[in-house]
Amino acid sequence: MSTTERDRLDGRRTLVTGGTRGSGQAVVARLRELGADVWVSARTMPAGYERPDRFVEADTSTPEGTDTLARRIAEGGALDILVHVVGGSTTPPGGFAAATDEQWLTEINLNLLGAVRLDRALLPAMVEAGSGVVLHFGSIQRQMPLHEATLPYAAAKGALRTYSKGLANELAPHGIRVNTISPGGIETEGYEDFLGKLAEASGGTREEAEQGVHAALGGVPLGRFARTEEIADLVGFLVSDRASSIVGAEYVIDGGTVPTV
Ligand SMILES: NC(=O)c1ccc[n+]([C@@H]2O[C@H](COP(=O)([O-])OP(=O)(O)OC[C@H]3O[C@@H](n4cnc5c(N)ncnc54)[C@H](OP(=O)(O)O)[C@@H]3O)[C@@H](O)[C@H]2O)c1
Repeated sequence: MSTTERDRLDGRRTLVTGGTRGSGQAVVARLRELGADVWVSARTMPAGYERPDRFVEADTSTPEGTDTLARRIAEGGALDILVHVVGGSTTPPGGFAAATDEQWLTEINLNLLGAVRLDRALLPAMVEAGSGVVLHFGSIQRQMPLHEATLPYAAAKGALRTYSKGLANELAPHGIRVNTISPGGIETEGYEDFLGKLAEASGGTREEAEQGVHAALGGVPLGRFARTEEIADLVGFLVSDRASSIVGAEYVIDGGTVPTV
């Protein structure tokens, strides 16, 4: 597919957090394809990583980690684009009564405060430059919370969305666009592993396991989850000049999983 000038991100100084696997990895590939100068962060640099000169090892769920990352990025001046992809859930199953304070704080640190701290450190330079784009990764769980194991995650993503909207209102007059992308299920390597484990435990096939996952969500009208490349295409659009009047929006990409308006 051909690109035009308005799709291009040539030379734009970019940071993608959580860019080594899943959606983040696809986002990094897409933004580099569009010409951006992309820095990547994760807790661990994969063996043989192709751009070690553009990689920062940092745990963005901790103040020390975001501090390390922000300092390293700030050495080169202001960012043009910040895509905060990191997020996830590690709370064990068992419903509301099983989730401890510690697990709640883990989810809030990972899914909300990482973005808050990184923005606080890096966005003042964007404000000074008078332009920039920020994208936060939410989840459809902010409006369709699942209670068995991911309620703290869902609540943290809900708070992230509210924060993102307020930040957008505050920074738009300074030339900075802040938006949220909220995926439903994504066909990541992690998801394939999960399906494999489900199939093994039940003695069924991968397809049967997948049908069970879709059924637990009330069905996925499209019949499949989003591909990481599709997530990356949406990100590529939202950070480009084509999206220059999109501010404070939430883009849901879920194959129709959320059944309500
Ligand atoms: N997958 C889904 O079905 C789904 C659905 C809705 C929303 N989302 C959201 O979409 C985003 C991407 O999810 P994904 O499933 O595509 O990602 P993923 O495959 O789980 O990849 C996670 C990435 O983040 C990094 N990471 C994880 N914890 C980190 C931490 N504490 N500090 C720094 N880096 C960390 C990982 O590298 P290291 O392990 O080396 O740190 C990796 O690069 C997340 O915000 C997630 O909540 C995902």
